[in-house]
Amino acid sequence: MPVASPVLFDNHGRPLEYLRLAVTDRCNLRCFYCMPAEGIEYVPKQELLSYEEMERLVTLLAGLGVRKVRLTGGEPFVRRDLVPFMERLARIPGIDDLSLTTNGVLTAPYVPALKQLGVKAVNLSLDTLDRTRFARITRRDELPRVLDTLYALLEAGITVKINAVVMGGQNIEDLVPLAGLTRELPVDVRFIEEMPFNGGSHAPTLPWNHVRIREHLQAHFPGLMPTAAAPGDTASHYTIPGHAGSIGIIAAFSRTFCGTCNRIRLTAEGGLKTCLYDQGVLDVRALLRGGASDEVVVEALKSAFRHRAADGFEAERQRPVHQLSFESMSTIGG
Ligand code: GTP
Ligand code: 5AD
Ligand code: SF4
Repeated sequence: MPVASPVLFDNHGRPLEYLRLAVTDRCNLRCFYCMPAEGIEYVPKQELLSYEEMERLVTLLAGLGVRKVRLTGGEPFVRRDLVPFMERLARIPGIDDLSLTTNGVLTAPYVPALKQLGVKAVNLSLDTLDRTRFARITRRDELPRVLDTLYALLEAGITVKINAVVMGGQNIEDLVPLAGLTRELPVDVRFIEEMPFNGGSHAPTLPWNHVRIREHLQAHFPGLMPTAAAPGDTASHYTIPGHAGSIGIIAAFSRTFCGTCNRIRLTAEGGLKTCLYDQGVLDVRALLRGGASDEVVVEALKSAFRHRAADGFEAERQRPVHQLSFESMSTIGG
């Protein structure tokens, strides 16, 4: 029987219903925009939340109104036994939308299992269709396996959103070919402003913001038409006449969508983030491992939700360490 979900609102009247759960900080790629070539210092295994700890937290959060869970990383499939863990999450009352964001290198063989689990949509990171540039950006020659995943997902009838981070000097020549995928394929290709969370890989700049990305696409696809966005969506949506798929632009660094932000994050080591740009507002792992009861954990979570920053700029100002590039997206979970 469906469980009627309560809705928890934050101190700015925004419903909190979407959890981004990083199941690992480890990754099998080394994307330029996420970490330096030598990688980042991974958290020791025992400091990562166990699957049991994550399941307990998701159950408590579902009781508070979270209904959508997206697994992120690092790369989720680098963690062993991910699919049995997803089966457990899918059974939690109140969780009606379970999905993941993956780099697609290891994912193709798991597509039938994802389908069976009822996963309806997968977000796939893909910044170029050119094998040489893919190897330069991710520092691994894995484009063919990512494309296998793309086609396996589409064949299984799973909705695919492609995430392409837009980087001056790296993949500008790829924007039009990536957008061109929508001509034949029913995919949503989303272009994302680069954020500075790259573990010190390079100095953060933003020569390509959402306006410039849109103008560049419009110059090649004059029929590009804005369409409505769902509440809580990070992307502005566009269609191109005659194309099977659609286009999205995510102003991740300009932060234009904070007013409807419905998401919270748990990092792989159990830090609660109520904004991507905060440095962690609650050490949930310490609570769990300190023997806190469910009631105590729930109260601590609710208190954090009542003190959310109004937007990503306020969250950034409140950080104890201001330099964003000290962090890697692989640790944050995207
Ligand atoms: P759905 O809306 O469920 O499809 O997922 P999503 O777009 O939230 O998730 P995904 O993991 O595919 O993220 C796409 C891009 O949006 C990534 O670069 C994320 O870091 C960025 N992003 C996701 N949530 C936020 C957010 O709350 N704030 C900002 N600034 N960027 C975000
Ligand atoms: N800036 C913007 N997006 C990023 N991602 C990873 N690092 C960055 C960054 N520095 C995106 C990837 C992935 C998603 C979870 O986050 O495209 O699909
Ligand atoms: Fe790995 Fe994703 Fe970071 Fe790339 S962006 S290094 S795929 S975690």
